[in-house]
Amino acid sequence: MSIQDLRRNYTFGGLVRSDLPPEPMQLFQQWFTLLQTTEKPEWFEVNAMTLSTANPNGGSSSRIVLLKGIDADGFFFFTNYDSDKGLQIAFDSQVALHFFWPMFDRQVRIEGQAVKTTAALSDQYFSSRPRSSQLGAIASPQSRLLLDEMQLERTIEELEIKFANQTIPRPDNWGGYKVVPSMIEFWQGKPSRLHDRFRYEYSRESGDWSIHRLAP
Ligand SMILES: Cc1cc2nc3c(=O)[nH]c(=O)nc-3n(C[C@H](O)[C@H](O)[C@H](O)COP(=O)(O)O)c2cc1C
Repeated sequence: MSIQDLRRNYTFGGLVRSDLPPEPMQLFQQWFTLLQTTEKPEWFEVNAMTLSTANPNGGSSSRIVLLKGIDADGFFFFTNYDSDKGLQIAFDSQVALHFFWPMFDRQVRIEGQAVKTTAALSDQYFSSRPRSSQLGAIASPQSRLLLDEMQLERTIEELEIKFANQTIPRPDNWGGYKVVPSMIEFWQGKPSRLHDRFRYEYSRESGDWSIHRLAP
């Protein structure tokens, strides 16, 4: 079959205004809980999301990161602050997140500001990670060129000796971001491409969310 003939009909359901809670994080939580409690392929990572950042040279960059927490007003992920994404967030903290959940014909688009989490929260998450991931976070100069094929393996071996029988400390250049949304759009696929789109927009003046229906 040619690529242009690839097409799914979306039949899971619809989204109507009366389904919408006043705050978008509540709807996100509902959709996310449904995903977590639904049987799905073992390989499907419900918390994988695309993070897009602005590039100082113009243009933008996207990559997957893992959602590691939600609270009443934001989304958390963890990374290397000196990575390309970290440098791009330092240049422009306005970012976008994106989720695609094909089993429910749903996508969620988020725009907002990324702010570093407290050192205490980064420490708490770092200490919960497997030891091998902690060593990897120290050893990997994320996004930088590797000198040779064995650089990472050598560094990990050295770190294993250095930290034998010790707690591994979180490196200063590794930690969390919280994305505080100013826009969240919920998209529900429908038959015949007449999809439902609702966009929540935050007003700083009123402190309230407004809800708009958009053409698909
Ligand atoms: C499923 C999946 C999960 C990932 N999770 C993370 C993550 O939580 N944090 C992270 O820094 N990179 C994660 N990555 C790697 C990033 O996609 C990316 O390669 C890396 O962060 C470097 O991006 P940058 O050079 O734009 O900074 C993940 C990749 C995949 C495919």
